[in-house]
Amino acid sequence: MRNHPRIIGFLGQALNHEYGAVQQYLTQASLCTLWGLRDWAETFLQESREELGHADLLNQRLLVMGIAPSGGQLRPPRPGRDLRDMLLHDVDLEAAAVDLYSEAEAFATRLRDPEAAALFARLRRDEEGHLQHLQESLAHLEGRG
Ligand SMILES: [Fe+2]
Ligand SMILES: [Fe+2]
Repeated sequence: MRNHPRIIGFLGQALNHEYGAVQQYLTQASLCTLWGLRDWAETFLQESREELGHADLLNQRLLVMGIAPSGGQLRPPRPGRDLRDMLLHDVDLEAAAVDLYSEAEAFATRLRDPEAAALFARLRRDEEGHLQHLQESLAHLEGRG
């Protein structure tokens, strides 16, 4: 069941998402550096590295399938005007990732493609972790947590 066109489609969408996320987090890290928010710059830089790691996993999967990976359509970064705005944009980004990986995981499971299902499930769990961490940071920033 390798190389099903919808699986290839999900992998391509996922790669675009991950490169877009790298770009957004890296832009936020750069902004935080300029604003003198050193700890936040490091936090966003670490996020961008994790998303780059996801792109690496997707690349490896595509290469095993004999497909040249290419992230072509990057979502424009939405860095935000201040820290709270940044975190709100990132919550949107991560929620979209959870939706994408949930849909891809469900499809791969129905198709009985366990390797693709395991990859999408792992990425979904990572993005759920990112989403939760962001929501906690946002609550803390707003004095709710
Ligand atoms: Fe990711
Ligand atoms: Fe993420």
